[in-house]
Amino acid sequence: MKKLVVLTGAGMSAESGISTFRDSGGLWEKYRVEQVATPEAWEENPKLVLEFYNQRRKQLLKAKPNAGHLALAELEKTYDVQIITQNVDNLHERAGSTNVLYLHGELMKVRSTGFGQEVYELTSDNYRTSLGDNCPKGFQLRPHIVWFGENVPNYSKAVEIAQQADVMLVIGTSLQVYPAAGLVNYSPEGIPVYLIDPNEIPNLPSYIIVISKGASDGMKEMLDILGK
Ligand code: OAD
Repeated sequence: MKKLVVLTGAGMSAESGISTFRDSGGLWEKYRVEQVATPEAWEENPKLVLEFYNQRRKQLLKAKPNAGHLALAELEKTYDVQIITQNVDNLHERAGSTNVLYLHGELMKVRSTGFGQEVYELTSDNYRTSLGDNCPKGFQLRPHIVWFGENVPNYSKAVEIAQQADVMLVIGTSLQVYPAAGLVNYSPEGIPVYLIDPNEIPNLPSYIIVISKGASDGMKEMLDILGK
């Protein structure tokens, strides 16, 4: 089977009702990144940070995978699909995709701020975390999210995957946040690289084939191109 490597961003989940970050009306218009998504924010106002992620989870629990997510899961019948996502939602997995690498962490998980950094899964009935919610060893739990200024532990794995691609597909990312945005450059020379996004992304390398559509319609077109 050919290896299809898919890099997804917030636009992938937009049609599921989850806000993107940089579009007008996006999350970073309502909150300042430094206020809620940095280690400094966590030091200064952990309560606000926890509440921000509680709100994100509440929104996620109301959302469902869209036709784009479902099409990617469907493609596993004919391709070895490996998804690398910047999204912290679980919509790829809920759509049935089995190989998902999370670059920026996972919303439905928290981890200990102790040395062990143990990770715990939240449930839909118990998705909130507050100050004083500790791991069994007594350390405060924090969101299992990669904040700005933190390392991206899965990046080297992602580079390895990108280097093995026979086809690459990028969906719904403004390609502004590094190192994630740099992954496209690791695709082997000469392979087809497609990008689905309804808006124009400036400064794209000329070899990228752009499909100017939303994730669901764009994936419909991709299924034709890839011959399912
Ligand atoms: P952005 O909000 O920067 O970009 C979203 C992209 O999705 C834009 O290019 C939109 O044009 C596109 N888009 C909008 N609607 C779409 C639709 N229906 N179908 C397809 N595409 C659509 O989000 P990301 O590039 O994912 O990190 O942002 C990268 C990282 O920055 C995030 O992972 C997050 C953020 O700050 C952290 O929080 C660490």
